[in-house]
Order: sequence, then C-alpha cells, then structure tokens
Amino acid sequence: MTGRIPQHFIDELLQRADIVEIVGSRVPLRKAGREYKACCPFHGEKTPSFTVSPTKGFYHCFGCGAHGTALGFLMEYDRVEFVAAVEELAARLGLEVPREGGGQPQSPLAPLYDVLASATNFFEQALRAHPAAIEYLRGRGLDGETARVFRIGYAPPAWDALLGEFPEAQDERARLATAGLIVARDGGGYYDRFRDRIMFPIRDSRGRVIGFGGRVLGAGEPKYLNSPETPVFHKGQELYGLYEARQAERRLTRLLVVEGYMDVVSLAQHGIRDAVATLGTATTPDQVRRLFRVVPEIVFCFDGDRAGRSAAWRALQACLPEVREGRQVRFLFLPDGEDPDSLVRREGAAAFAERAAGSLPLSDYLLDELRRQAGPDSLDARARLAELARPLLALLPPGVYRELLTDRLAEAVGLRRERLTAALGGEPVNAPPPIPERRPRSAGQRPSLVRQAITLLVHRPDLGRDVPVPSGLGNVRSKGTALLVELLQLTRDVPGLTPGALVERFRDRPEGPHLAEILTGQLLVSEAAAARELADSLQRIVAQGRDERLAELVAKAATDGLTTAEKEEFRQLQRAGIADSG
Ligand code: GTP
Ligand code: MN
Repeated sequence: MTGRIPQHFIDELLQRADIVEIVGSRVPLRKAGREYKACCPFHGEKTPSFTVSPTKGFYHCFGCGAHGTALGFLMEYDRVEFVAAVEELAARLGLEVPREGGGQPQSPLAPLYDVLASATNFFEQALRAHPAAIEYLRGRGLDGETARVFRIGYAPPAWDALLGEFPEAQDERARLATAGLIVARDGGGYYDRFRDRIMFPIRDSRGRVIGFGGRVLGAGEPKYLNSPETPVFHKGQELYGLYEARQAERRLTRLLVVEGYMDVVSLAQHGIRDAVATLGTATTPDQVRRLFRVVPEIVFCFDGDRAGRSAAWRALQACLPEVREGRQVRFLFLPDGEDPDSLVRREGAAAFAERAAGSLPLSDYLLDELRRQAGPDSLDARARLAELARPLLALLPPGVYRELLTDRLAEAVGLRRERLTAALGGEPVNAPPPIPERRPRSAGQRPSLVRQAITLLVHRPDLGRDVPVPSGLGNVRSKGTALLVELLQLTRDVPGLTPGALVERFRDRPEGPHLAEILTGQLLVSEAAAARELADSLQRIVAQGRDERLAELVAKAATDGLTTAEKEEFRQLQRAGIADSG
C-alpha cells in the first residue's frame, strides 16, 4: 500500500503549475484584463462566465458556481480522483510524486471501496458464466456493450458465492458486512445478501461502486433488493446513472430523472444517455442540488398513474427551493401503464425525445395541479387556489423566478399581483427588485472583522508572514477566530503558499467551501493597503473580543458574582484595554 502524498508537495505543485496553461489545454481561453475567460465547461452557456485567475491560481464560474485550483479542475474536467490529478500535474512539471512512509491506508473507508470493487468484478464475471442471466438481459433488449458500460453483473444463486471469493478472516467478513454485501446469521456465520439477481452497481461521482440494486430474474419478491445504508452509500443522495451520463457526454445540458434502474439502462441502450434514477425513493432536495450542479435543466419522467402523479408532486416540492433564473425543471407524464423503458422500446428514441421536448414546465404543472386541487372554477376555488399556492411560493428563493410565478398565479386567480401578494401576506406590496444570485453585501451590512481578516489572508497569504499578531487573539471567542488563527499559523509556516494552494489545503474540511467562496470574490482593498488593513483588523478583533468578555463578566458580577479567577481576568482585561487606547 502506498503512503500519503506529503502536503508540502501539493503546495509546491500548485505554486509551480500554471493554471492558465492547464485549463487552456482543455478549454479555449481568452484574455480579459488580468484574468482569462471561457464558456464554462461544466454547464451549458453561450456567453462566457468562466474565469481563470493566474494570480489566485483559481478558476470560478459566475454562472454555475464551479470553482477550484488546477487540481480541482483536473478532477472535475477529467473526472479523476485527487491522486490521479496530482500525478497528472506532477508529470507535466516533470516531478516524481513522493510518498510518506508508514503505508497508512488513505481513508478508513478505503477498504469498503475495495471490497465493493472486487464484488463488482465478481458479479461481472459471474454474468458471463450464467447463460440464463445473459438471456434475461437480452430478452429485455440489452446488448453486451450497454451491460459493460453500466458494469451490470449477476449474483449466483448460492448462499456463499460471493463469500467464497474472499478470505475467511474475520476482519474481511466484517468489511463485507459493513459494505452491505453479506448478512450475519443469527447462529453465527454469514450469507450472501444478493442471490440469483441481476446486479446494477451504483457509482458515486468519481465512478467508485458504493452499492448495488439487484433484480430478480423473473417473478419474485422483492423485485428489487438494494444495498442497505452503509458508510459509503446513502440512498437519498445518490442517483443511479449520473456517473455514466457524465462519462458519455462531456457537455450535458439536461438530465432526465426516471424511476427505475432498467429505465436508465434501456434509454442508454437506445442512445439516450442522459437519464438518471432515484434509488426507489422520493426525489430529495439533496439530489436536486446535485443535479443542478451538473446541468441547468432537469426533466422528471413519471408514470401517468396516481402513484406517478404523487411522486411528481413531491419532486416538485423538492425542486422549489432550488429553482431560479437560468434553471429549468420540466415534467414528462407518460401514458398509463408505460415506463421509459417500455416506451422507448415501443416508440424508439426519436419519439421519446420528442415527448421529453414537449414536457410541461414546472410553472405549468404547478398551476395545473393547483387548479385540479382547488376544484372547478368558482370564487371559492380561486381563494382556495391562492391558499394552496401560499406555502409553495414561500419555498421559492426570492428573485425573478418567484416574481414570474406570482404573476402567473395572480392571473389564474384573477387578481392584480399586488393584491395577491398582499392577500398572501408574503412580500411587501412593492416587491423589491430581484436579487442577483451572488448578492454583494449591501452598504449597511459590513462583513464581520473576522471575515474581513480571513478574506485578506485568503487573497494574500504572503501577508501572514509579517503581520503582527496581537497577544490575546487566541482567547477571542467570536465566530471564525479559530480558523483565523489557524490561517495565520499556516501562512507563517508555509511561505509562498498561493491563494489556490491555501484553499486546496481545506478540500476535505467543512471550512473548505467557505474559503473557496471567499476566494471567488474580489479583494476590495488595494495591494498597498492590504497589510495595514489586516494588522488593523486583528487589533480590532482583539479589542472587540475584550469588550465582549468584559460585558459578560460585568453581567455575571451583577447576577452570580465573580470567582477569584474571573476577578483577576477582569482586572487584566481592563488594564489591557487602557494600555491599548493609551
Ligand atoms: P422492471 O420491472 O425491471 O422494468 O423495473 P422498473 O424499473 O420498471 O421497476 P418499477 O417501476 O417497479 O420500480 C422502479 C424502481 O423502484 C426500481 O428501479 C427500484 O429502484 C424500486 N423498486 C421497485 N420494486 C422494488 C422493490 O421490491 N424493493 C425495493 N427496495 N425497491 C423497488
Ligand atoms: Mn420497467
């Protein structure tokens, strides 16, 4: 097993790599001032909002929010894992990737991915050895190529077919069980969870198998058996076929969301490669967010029956918080008794594509459905309609889209918009102007001092080396101070860190996205003033923290009284405050 790649090497790579060259080798870039621009490779667009900044060592798309360093770009664009991206970048610079000794596995989850990968291979092999399983897939219209793309396999009927492939050691058994592949028997021992089933591997965005759906060959219960929730498999977050769709089409413009594994695979067999499926559960907001990170348009396909209608309604609700200008959600209702698989086989891809193109926009579907729920048109029905719409409109983020939908609704109810919004008790009568996606802070709302200091350090890590750090910063408890202290330490310890490399260090930390977001913004302070500004912020953070603590102690003195230690702290804080202002 290979050891970790040392952090200093990653810093150095990002320092030496030319992000303009890396991105430019894959996307044609045009110079625009100090930066470079292109049409974003991660979402469909006609005017360029994708920006590469050589000074930051960072790219950012104002349209879809994609951003990252040269490493992140390679991971996203080439769809490779972190280590592969590091190797690619190192190879370009003619560097050997060093490894730390010790041979620690990279993550506690790595063994789970390993057994899932081995199981996938085993099921694929087993399919070749079982003519009945191949026959079943042929009977459903699939050829070997489609089976290969989706890595479809077969779990043999025995209770220990998969078990027999792995060492009997207890820790190996435990891994298989945790991965959901085997089940513990009451009396001791284990048995294969999946037996005599067609196996559909479910892959994550990096292509790693994280779970399976298994279908019986003929009739039988349950028709589909899914992996249980495991440390690597969370049904409500994953989408079957998303990895395959991204592999098949670099520039996806929309994704079709269908209900079944077979629907995804059968559509792909007919050349429609942009379908994904939820894993037998209702569409979740998590899934909607993931889809919108990849494409600006989602088309939901549901059966026209009652179950399909109710699933569509739930999907709509999961979408509302995420809809906004530039994003589209549409609904395709299929004829009764059909699913995408049966329909595409009967009508062919062209007819299916035509149906998808004619699908209902979210707003149409929403109004149709509300009208149906409100009952035949009457004054009462219109009032009910407005009432039914209220909680749904509240889910929409403010913006152009909400305005448009409110207009449509007002029309349906027969009220002027102003009257309707007033009746709904929602927005003020004079609706505020639409708010752009990334709202610049309004003048009155200053960023906190801590945020300001963090922003300066993220954009100018070089400042960390010389800035005087006031004593007492470590004791300040306001939000973000711990991160600020960490960043000061880091920029001091690692001179030459680029902004991109600094953010890259937080890739797997919860603070990562915040720091990246900060770097996508502009530094509003001049180069020359930045150092003074940072020093000043740090001073003021300490002073503010002291005032807050003093106020706390005063309040406590008035209620519970102070301990001896607190009295001493109070005196010291006061003295420091006087020294400061003097
Ligand atoms: P085929 O009959 O193979 O065409 O499957 P389908 O995809 O048309 O199945 P169906 O419409 O019945 O189900 C859609 C999806 O619901 C499946 O792909 C599964 O994810 C899930 N599902 C269906 N039946 C079961 C079941 O018995 N158990 C579980 N856990 N999920 C199921
Ligand atoms: Mn079906």
